[in-house]
Amino acid sequence: MTRKDYGVFLPNAAGGWMISSTAPYPPADYDYNRQVALAADGYGLDFVMAMSKWLGFGGATDHWGETIDSLSLIAALAEATTHVGVWGTIHCNVQHPAFAAKIFTTLQQISHGRGGMNIVNGSYADEFRQMGLWNDSMSHADRYRMTEAWMTAVDRLWTEPEVTMKTDFFVLDRCQSRPHPVTRPTVVSAGRSALGRKFQAKYADAAFLGSDSMAEMREFARDVHDQAAAHGRTCGTYAMLTLVIGETDAAAERAAAAYAQGIDRVALANMRSSWGWAQEKALSWAEDAPGDEAFQTPYITGSPTTIAERVHRVLDGAELDGIMLIFPDYLRDLPVFGTEVLPLLRAADG
Ligand SMILES: Cc1cc2nc3c(=O)[nH]c(=O)nc-3n(C[C@H](O)[C@H](O)[C@H](O)COP(=O)(O)O)c2cc1C
Repeated sequence: MTRKDYGVFLPNAAGGWMISSTAPYPPADYDYNRQVALAADGYGLDFVMAMSKWLGFGGATDHWGETIDSLSLIAALAEATTHVGVWGTIHCNVQHPAFAAKIFTTLQQISHGRGGMNIVNGSYADEFRQMGLWNDSMSHADRYRMTEAWMTAVDRLWTEPEVTMKTDFFVLDRCQSRPHPVTRPTVVSAGRSALGRKFQAKYADAAFLGSDSMAEMREFARDVHDQAAAHGRTCGTYAMLTLVIGETDAAAERAAAAYAQGIDRVALANMRSSWGWAQEKALSWAEDAPGDEAFQTPYITGSPTTIAERVHRVLDGAELDGIMLIFPDYLRDLPVFGTEVLPLLRAADG
C-alpha cells in the first residue's frame, strides 16, 4: 500500500455540499472556515481546498448564494496553519496570468511552500454573464486552449526573468514577475472530459475527477496516470466524497435519509441549468429526483470503522491517490474523522 492523501473541501460557500433544508448549513464565513482548516491541520490531513464561486442557486436554501473569496481565504489560512497544504482556486478566464503568478508566489512565501493553485476555466455561463465576462463564441475546446496558454505563461513567469507571449487570450510583453517561487505551487485541475484529463496529465500535480460510476472513475484515473507517465511526470488522482459518520451504521444511514428528505428541488434545478441543461428539462428532472440527489457528490455512510473500510474500497476500486472529503457538519464530523477514522486509514495505507 502507498500513502494516500486525505484533504478537506472547505465550505466557503453557504450550505456546503448538501442541497437540503434538513441538513446542517455551514455559513460562508471566515471564522468557520478557519476552524475547519485548523482542525484539518491538527489532525494531520494533507490539504484543504477552497473553491471559487460567483453565483448561487436560489431555492429555499439559497444554496451557495453567499460565498467568500478563495484566494484571500487561503492566504489567511496559510498563516493560521503549519503543516496542511493550502490550495486556492483561480479562474483563468477572469484573472490575467501575471496576476496569478504573483498571487501564488506570495502564497508560497506565506505558507513556506504549502500552496496549491486549482486552475479552473469558468464553464458556468451565468456566473460570468453577470460580470460581462462570458464569451459565447468560445467552445469547450477553446477554453482548454486558453487554459493551456495561461498555464504556460504562469510557469514561464515563475521561472524566467521576462516573458513575451502573444496569444488569442492575453498578451505578455517583456513581462516580469519577480521574485520567483522557491518551489512551484501544487498545480491542481478539476475536470472529467478528455480535454480536461489531457491538461491534467501534462501540467497538474493533482487531478480531481468526476464520474458516473466507480468503473468510469478507474478508467479516468488510469488515463491520467498513463498520459502523465508518457510525459515523464506524475499526476495524482483524486475524487470528492461526502462522509456521513454516525455512532453506528444504522445511525449514519438514518442521518443521511433525514438530509435527503429536505432536498431543495428549486436549487437543484438551477444548478443543473447552470451546467447547460434546458430550464424545462432541469425542472422536470429535479421534481422527480431521488432524495439523495441532495448530496452533490458521491457519499458513504457508517460508523467510523465502516467509513474507513468504505473509503478504502473507493480508493482501491477507482485506483485513486487521494480523496477530498466533505462533511455535512464540518465542526462536528471532522474531529470524529481525525481521531477515529484517519488513524485506521493511515495504518492500512502503511
Ligand atoms: C473538485 C472540483 C472543484 C472545482 N472547483 C471549481 C471552482 O472552484 N470553480 C469553478 O468554476 N469550477 C470548479 N469546478 C468545475 C471544473 O473547473 C470543471 O469546469 C468541471 O469539472 C468540468 O470539467 P470538464 O469540462 O473538463 O469535464 C470544480 C470541479 C471539481 C471536480
